[in-house]
Amino acid sequence: MSFVSELVCSRCGRKYLPTEKPVMCASRDLGRLDVVYEYEELKEFLRRESIAKRPWTGGLWRYWELMPASREFGAPLGEGLTPLFCARRLNEAIGLKRMRLKDETRNPTGSFKDRSMSVGTAKAVEMNADTVVIASSGNAASSLAAYSASLGLRCYAFVPENVSTGKVAQLLAYGARLLRVKAVEEGVDPTVQLMLRAVEAFGWYPCPSFGPFNPYQVEGPKTIVYEVVEQLGWRFPDAMLVPTGSGCLLTGIWRGIKDLIELELVDGEPPRLIAVQPEGNQPLVRAVRTGLSFEEIVPEKSPSSIASGLLDPYPWDGDAAMEGIKRTGGTGVAVSDQEIMESVKLLASKAGVFAEPSGAVGVAAAKRLRDEGTFDESDELVVLVTGSGLKEVERLAPEVGKVPLILPEIDLLRPHVMT
Ligand SMILES: Cc1ncc(COP(=O)(O)O)c(C=O)c1O
Ligand SMILES: [Zn+2]
Repeated sequence: MSFVSELVCSRCGRKYLPTEKPVMCASRDLGRLDVVYEYEELKEFLRRESIAKRPWTGGLWRYWELMPASREFGAPLGEGLTPLFCARRLNEAIGLKRMRLKDETRNPTGSFKDRSMSVGTAKAVEMNADTVVIASSGNAASSLAAYSASLGLRCYAFVPENVSTGKVAQLLAYGARLLRVKAVEEGVDPTVQLMLRAVEAFGWYPCPSFGPFNPYQVEGPKTIVYEVVEQLGWRFPDAMLVPTGSGCLLTGIWRGIKDLIELELVDGEPPRLIAVQPEGNQPLVRAVRTGLSFEEIVPEKSPSSIASGLLDPYPWDGDAAMEGIKRTGGTGVAVSDQEIMESVKLLASKAGVFAEPSGAVGVAAAKRLRDEGTFDESDELVVLVTGSGLKEVERLAPEVGKVPLILPEIDLLRPHVMT
């Protein structure tokens, strides 16, 4: 059973019926086929009480009526339903009282991308695809590989040359056919280039976490906002800080907010959406801060940052992400690698959450905005911590200290005892 009424191209407005099973707009205009649901029908029975009665299990299929794929085709890995909590010692360090972390490192493969790939692969099975392909900096690929392994799909993953060892290990263990792709042209993502060529040549099902190439997976991350609202007792927070690369996560969050408003499940102002990018790759933040339109965005020529998951030179879903930022009175923040590494350490040492640099940028932005006075201590922020530090141990280990090697003697321990 599905409550999808149609899909509408975000660029040319062309409409598709769900039975046509479209993936990309036939006009080849890089539009995203935004999924439209039968809101009037859903409003009749999808109420706070009926949702709240459901068990907090079964992954994002808890919200199956607002998904574009059938849960019977989904993998049983149990993504989402992640904790939302106040980390008191972290809040004290930053000077905020009501900041909460949405800990997406707890997902099956260690990043929020499991939400996207859960839906993307369920749709692949529904469409009878046997081979899926992805272009990714690593997290979305690992996630697609895991979901493909569970469902018996063949998975091809194209990743950048310098992908982290943790992500490679995951990908190979899950059984993906993995290829690192060399960059040839400034501002062009070679992994995306190859993915599109492979789709054309072999007819594989594209499942990157970019809306223009797969509209179904965008619907996964919107469950983050459904969960946040439920966890807060059916209220929106004041702001949400969102690590941003392609803008697909931010697009999902914005779509989730619109669903909740449309279904009259929450009242009150929506949260201010804040896109966070690294200084070394900030095409979307720059556009937001300088008042450029989405069409005026130029790809970053040579993206560079320790936040390796946020290096998309072009924000494929920037149109919807920017609409969300504008409509909620949000903004964009670019943080330096030094601020990012400081946040990785703060998150681990003050909150007990080990995040990879890309996953920690929201904390860096919260700190910056607090220091600048944009937020005061009573503002209720939700920071998405999107990826686990275990994925980048080789990059993080040298940053967090050296390990002494000693004999088992008490006098040799004494100099190391904390005072
Ligand atoms: C850990 C992490 N956080 C955030 C993002 C950004 O998501 P998006 O590309 O949808 O903006 C990514 C993307 O790869 C990621 O790996
Ligand atoms: Zn179109």
